[in-house]
Amino acid sequence: MTTIATPAFTTRLPHVGTTIFTVMSALAQQHGAVNLGQGFPDFDCDPRLLDAVNDAMRAGLNQYPPMTGVPVLREAVAAKIETMYGHAYDPGSEITITAGATQAIITAILAIVHPGDEVIVLDPCYDSYEPNIELAGGIAVHVPLTPGTFEPDFAAIAAALTPRTRAIVINTPHNPSATVWSAAQMNRLAELLRGTNVMVISDEVYEHMVYDGAEHQSVARFPELAQRSFIVSSFGKTYHVTGWKVGYVAAPAAVMAEFRKVHQFNVFTVNTPMQHGLAHFMADASNHLGLPAFYQRKRDLFRTGLEATRLRPLATTGSYFQCVDYSAVSDRSEEEFCKWLTTEIGVAAIPLAAFYQGGYEQRIARFCFAKKDETLNLALQRLAKL
Ligand SMILES: Cc1ncc(COP(=O)(O)O)c(C=O)c1O
Repeated sequence: MTTIATPAFTTRLPHVGTTIFTVMSALAQQHGAVNLGQGFPDFDCDPRLLDAVNDAMRAGLNQYPPMTGVPVLREAVAAKIETMYGHAYDPGSEITITAGATQAIITAILAIVHPGDEVIVLDPCYDSYEPNIELAGGIAVHVPLTPGTFEPDFAAIAAALTPRTRAIVINTPHNPSATVWSAAQMNRLAELLRGTNVMVISDEVYEHMVYDGAEHQSVARFPELAQRSFIVSSFGKTYHVTGWKVGYVAAPAAVMAEFRKVHQFNVFTVNTPMQHGLAHFMADASNHLGLPAFYQRKRDLFRTGLEATRLRPLATTGSYFQCVDYSAVSDRSEEEFCKWLTTEIGVAAIPLAAFYQGGYEQRIARFCFAKKDETLNLALQRLAKL
């Protein structure tokens, strides 16, 4: 008798298991905890955006769009970047619409990283970077941000550069630390990479969430960096529609041509009516320019409430995350603390160690404040018991 069996195979990603986000969200649901763990809004988007998408569907815009994205949306993106950051990208050859930032990042990496190439990532960092690099056959070189301030450590980055360095991934405003890079830091990066062939993948998904009057320092503001960079952004983050998975990439034409070769065969095109709806909605710039005030109010509400607890809030200058130092409350490891907070106190958070290679422990947990005021107030009530 022949046995029917799945053939033996070897995993491409031996280090990837269930992520902490999945674990914490499941635990939050099981225990009825307020979920401030995963980074997504619990409120709806502007109904005008829904209407714009609905109108596009009703108008019959439901078939494959051009591979690079619908022209009106690419034009709107180019115009926004030029207005805000002063760099003119050609919508025809330098902007591509992607299936969220996640697909944009893996596509950029697959487009430029060859087996054995090194890519610098700055820990703590978003969890998709390293597996993306591994799938390309590259080697992720982890350089920690300065503990305590989360500022880039340029001496350490300089020390990590080798003739094999193909790219560096940067992320400002930063997930998870909620810090933003200054113009001086961007200039320092430009100086460091001058004369090298190192490219920059600049993850700017939180570009419209910068507070206290500060400005987002896009690589587009720095001509030298723009020439060697992919800019990645996400409509999901900006317009409160993370489930739509639409984003974009901007890069110099020669680089974008390579990006599109990979894009063409991993996703080909992105949802047509969403693209038309987003283009229509973007025409009113107040929809993205109003975001700092919208989220700054939520940040302040949450931080003011935290002051009444024994958690010590760290500075949040960008993104929709708030990190807290819990060392006055507990000496458990970050993962143990977050699990305890979820099951016993009823508020889910994410351990910062999850964003580090090897799980560096600092007694810091990350909350997401992209939530209704009532959700934040309920979480604060529970945290006050600590
Ligand atoms: C830093 C960072 N990059 C990329 C992404 C992915 O964005 P998208 O949902 O558009 O794929 C996220 C989402 O949490 C993020 O925090």
